[in-house]
Amino acid sequence: MRPTALIPALLSAAALVLAFLCLFAGHKKDFMEDYHVLTLNTSRLGEGVVNGTLGSDDGTLGSLWDLVPDSIQSDVSEAAGVITEKLGIEDFYSAHLLDYCFGQYTPTETPNATISASDIHKNVTGCSNQTAMFWFNPNEIIEQALNKSGLGVTLADLEWPEDVQKGLDALRIVSVTAFVLYCIAIGLIFLSFVSALVAVFTSGRLSACVNLLLGILSFLVIGLASALVTAVIEKGGDVINEKGNEIGLQANKGKKFEALTWVATALTFVAMAMWVFETCVGRRRKVAYEPAKHG
Ligand SMILES: *[C@@H]1O[C@H](CO)[C@@H](O)[C@H](O)[C@H]1NC(C)=O
Ligand SMILES: *[C@@H]1O[C@H](CO)[C@@H](O)[C@H](O)[C@H]1NC(C)=O
Ligand SMILES: *[C@@H]1O[C@H](CO)[C@@H](O)[C@H](O)[C@H]1NC(C)=O
Ligand SMILES: *[C@@H]1O[C@H](CO)[C@@H](O)[C@H](O)[C@H]1NC(C)=O
Ligand SMILES: *[C@@H]1O[C@H](CO)[C@@H](O)[C@H](O)[C@H]1NC(C)=O
Ligand SMILES: *[C@@H]1O[C@H](CO)[C@@H](O)[C@H](O)[C@H]1NC(C)=O
Repeated sequence: MRPTALIPALLSAAALVLAFLCLFAGHKKDFMEDYHVLTLNTSRLGEGVVNGTLGSDDGTLGSLWDLVPDSIQSDVSEAAGVITEKLGIEDFYSAHLLDYCFGQYTPTETPNATISASDIHKNVTGCSNQTAMFWFNPNEIIEQALNKSGLGVTLADLEWPEDVQKGLDALRIVSVTAFVLYCIAIGLIFLSFVSALVAVFTSGRLSACVNLLLGILSFLVIGLASALVTAVIEKGGDVINEKGNEIGLQANKGKKFEALTWVATALTFVAMAMWVFETCVGRRRKVAYEPAKHG
């Protein structure tokens, strides 16, 4: 019997749940939407179109202007809202590990005097199909929406910066690797949990050593996955904000996802540290107590 093994077992169970949530956050509509990896705020894309079309009657963009009711033609942001809606472009696209979701900001896109940033919520309209090894491809998503609208507007008309996609594609392999590592980490943490439970009912060095080994592996794998996904969040967010700035494209970094994954990593670290203690210090302590037990 080794009752103290219950603590690392519980820590592993908690880490397992959190690692699962990292993988499945946002896998369907309204399931932990706030735990996105990156959110692309496209709510102001229409404004660039409006700016470009003001006063011009020719070409595709000129005819787009006819879709805007006369009553709001003087209000750029209202007109921009109508145009993005006609083009089929949503307010935001949020990338998760398995899919992306999209929808509208409610009650309004930009904070104003009466509505602060914290009052603005995402109203998710839908999510893409789940795919293993998913990678976020906003170029394709926006182009598909434009094609579907049938208005003949292209990415070039929106002055969509190619560099956004180039920057994101550079992160593709990192993101896919992180996905694979999360899957492996979930397996390892599950094994750690089971072997810690086994260790509660047995004693001896072998089980402590197996637990230590699994603990180290779990910590390393989920730590690496967390580091990679953090790099994707920080680098991807910076690339989008830098390249997309001129057309009003903004990225929100997944700070809550970062917190979730690092808490899971910290839990596996504590579990591992307890097994280090158990194998190194615990054994010596047990030897010291042995005579008392028999006496
Ligand atoms: C559109 O024009 C307005 C006024 O000139 C400007 O403040 C705004 O930044 C422009 N928006 C975009 C997306 O270019
Ligand atoms: C802020 O936006 C909301 C929603 O669009 C609107 O109802 C409200 O009047 C706006 N407030 C100001 C001060 O512009
Ligand atoms: C979210 O959007 C749906 C449909 O677009 C709408 O019916 C619903 O009222 C919206 N919810 C909020 C909270 O705005
Ligand atoms: C998503 O899956 C459904 C059925 O599972 C399929 O009909 C649909 O075409 C898929 N959508 C995409 C974009 O792959
Ligand atoms: C959109 O249409 C263009 C031209 O018809 C085509 O080349 C492109 O592949 C389409 N894009 C998507 C994502 O369907
Ligand atoms: C979306 O981006 C625009 C700037 O492009 C910003 O003014 C607005 O506050 C953002 N909205 C949200 C909900 O982040």
